[in-house]
Amino acid sequence: MVILNGKETSDLIKQELAKEVEAFVAAGGKRPHLCAILVGEDGASQTYVNNKERSCKQVGFNSTVLRMPADTTQETLLKEIEKINQNDDVDGLIVQLPLPKHIDEQVVINAIDPNKDVDGFHPVNVGKLSLGLDTFVCATPFGIMKLLERYQIETKGKKCVILGRSNIVGRPMANLLSQKGYPGDCTVTICHSRTENIKEHTLNADIIIAALGVPHFLTADMVKEGAVIIDVGITRVPADNEKGYVLRGDVDYDNVAPKASYITPVPGGVGPMTIVSLLNNTLKAARKREL
Ligand code: GUN
Repeated sequence: MVILNGKETSDLIKQELAKEVEAFVAAGGKRPHLCAILVGEDGASQTYVNNKERSCKQVGFNSTVLRMPADTTQETLLKEIEKINQNDDVDGLIVQLPLPKHIDEQVVINAIDPNKDVDGFHPVNVGKLSLGLDTFVCATPFGIMKLLERYQIETKGKKCVILGRSNIVGRPMANLLSQKGYPGDCTVTICHSRTENIKEHTLNADIIIAALGVPHFLTADMVKEGAVIIDVGITRVPADNEKGYVLRGDVDYDNVAPKASYITPVPGGVGPMTIVSLLNNTLKAARKREL
């Protein structure tokens, strides 16, 4: 069994990106600039945004975080997005999700300039992805593709089961892995909360991607010997420690790992890889604007 070390892999990719950024700037390109908007005080979202800011600095990007109070109106948020859309110095814009309940996330996503949508959430970019066209691929699926690639995991003709049908993980993941090429050429099944007898599907799978947000959902009896296990889950479960919580994946790691050929830990697996996509997309956006 091989542990897929997302932390180490993402650090390596960040070092490569930092070199690319320096070469781009030395050749006269404008230093890439990512802007993140965070509405409200959700603990996990603050951690993610802080990590994004730190990673931007590591690769030599400029980075701005716009923090807005939880009671910000949708109209105010849309106005800020429009200002950033018009700001020529900003290459990439992300709005951290989830947003407070009174704000319609899809309306907000639709307002982002697709050329700056480095999250790959805008319908134009989702459409391009599903057609296999060049676009900004969203963070988690891109990170998983890179992890499969770096560890040279065979995907051609493999049966892949994705647990979860979210717009930001399950669906784009299914799209990417069913496309031609490497990593891809998989036969993909998406399972979700209405799927009957999920175990029947997972027991047949060569690759399982668990992205339901249900801690320890995937247990050893649901997994075939030698399967590749990718755990996207990262739920905060209350615990009696300093932080008051522990991070728990969707996979019962201790019992599933002995059966797996490759497996991602939580934390340190998929999580650190997601940021790589955002950085990659921001550099791509900056390059596009120089053309
Ligand atoms: N919330 C959870 N994942 C993501 C992500 O990839 N991008 C944004 N903007 N918000 C998120």
